[in-house]
Amino acid sequence: MADLSVDFVGIKAPNPFWLASAPPTDKKINVERAYRAGWGGVVWKTLGEAGAPVVNVSGPRYGVLLGPDRRIIGLNNIELITDRPLEINLQEIKEVKRAWRDRALVVSLMVPCEEEAWKSILKQVEDTEADGVELNFGCPHGMSERGMGAAVGQVPEYVEMVTRWCKQHSRMPVIVKLTPNISDIRKPAEAAKRGGADAVSLINTINSVIGVDLDSMIAVPNTDGFATHGGYCGPAVKPIALSMVSEIARAAETRGLPISGIGGIETWKDAAEYLALGASTVQVCTAAMVYGFKIVEDMITGLSDWMDAKGYTSVDQVVGAAIPRMTDWQHLNLDYIVKAKIDEDTCIECGRCHIACEDTSHQSIVVEAEEGGKRRFVVDEAECVGCNLCASVCPVPNCISMDPLPAGAIDLRTGLVVGGKRTWLDHPNNPMAVHPRPHANAPAE
Ligand SMILES: Cc1cc2nc3c(=O)[nH]c(=O)nc-3n(C[C@H](O)[C@H](O)[C@H](O)COP(=O)(O)O)c2cc1C
Ligand code: SF4
Ligand code: SF4
Repeated sequence: MADLSVDFVGIKAPNPFWLASAPPTDKKINVERAYRAGWGGVVWKTLGEAGAPVVNVSGPRYGVLLGPDRRIIGLNNIELITDRPLEINLQEIKEVKRAWRDRALVVSLMVPCEEEAWKSILKQVEDTEADGVELNFGCPHGMSERGMGAAVGQVPEYVEMVTRWCKQHSRMPVIVKLTPNISDIRKPAEAAKRGGADAVSLINTINSVIGVDLDSMIAVPNTDGFATHGGYCGPAVKPIALSMVSEIARAAETRGLPISGIGGIETWKDAAEYLALGASTVQVCTAAMVYGFKIVEDMITGLSDWMDAKGYTSVDQVVGAAIPRMTDWQHLNLDYIVKAKIDEDTCIECGRCHIACEDTSHQSIVVEAEEGGKRRFVVDEAECVGCNLCASVCPVPNCISMDPLPAGAIDLRTGLVVGGKRTWLDHPNNPMAVHPRPHANAPAE
């Protein structure tokens, strides 16, 4: 059976499935129930400075984007960091760590951008024997207006400065949690690395307004007649987070920096995708809030079974496995030709592929009327550009396949012989082309 245990920047855990800093990790009772369910680690709900805690709204703090089956696709929240007193959180962290030595317990922190404030909280966290700290440079609402959270994470110089303080004033591993509300995620990741970060975690929530109630003309969630932007998470953000994780894993400046992947993870498969793109642990929030702690059971067995089936014996072997095949658009093979093919036996004649291709793609699906009122949908290869829209909208799985033309075949659309390897860099239509140019990511022959 595959070994799911991880050693993330010196923090050991029986599996890579950790709960992200959020309501599921905001108190001892929750964290212990999560550990009992099987979670390998948690990042405790973000702690702030000593003194009067922050105050949350006492009304709706969530808004949701629902799919047609009422499944939550996206979750928006206007919650702040912990609103429980610091001393209580620290005491509980200490008790939990003592009772659960084999699980990871990382403490999320957010205090003002002052060295003394960080020095003080780090000392207190160190006294709990927690395994490490995660710097919350990501919260996009409420705290950012007070100069913390995303207000720090959006300025690489601040990220570097605070990270350096934390490394200077603590012997604990420091994980820097990045905000996605920035144009180039590599910049704060590089800054974290320069500041001495042991790892980065991403993503925190995306700045968002989930919707507007058109009767009251007030956006959601409504607090006594007013609304504000919040942080977006859940399955809808996974593609954005995956892209950001892969960019950090690929970039020369940050390659090798350990990554904890966060955003929209609901299943073992989601987690495996993060691992493949360079994360070595994953963190989950929304799925645990929506389905409960027990989802980790399927995550553990699913990942383990898949690794066994694929011959992976340790999580390390999966980490970054898809990175060598991530490249920039300019390195894609423009001579790779694919055509849609419709399986008449499984087609239910709904016509969705025809409408999609006719109205918004390349008018390549012809409808032929047959005897008995039957309709036959046929791809015109002389028009099809292989865009995949028809297969994406078809309600019947695998009814439309996307078949590559073999080398030597003639592409009826262009009249060219298939089999070339031109990229944009050496394509004749590119005025800047260099001829010929090798594929930057080409695997060794
Ligand atoms: C209600 C709520 C509260 C959150 N609070 C925090 C927090 O205190 N600190 C933090 O770093 N992230 C916080 N997050 C962000 C999550 O840790 C996580 O980064 C984000 O939700 C993406 O993961 P997901 O798609 O699995 O939910 C919060 C998220 C939600 C939904
Ligand atoms: S792949 Fe694109 S162009 Fe080809 S038939 Fe389908 S929708 Fe039309
Ligand atoms: S969308 Fe699929 S099922 Fe519907 S007509 Fe096209 S091929 Fe047939």
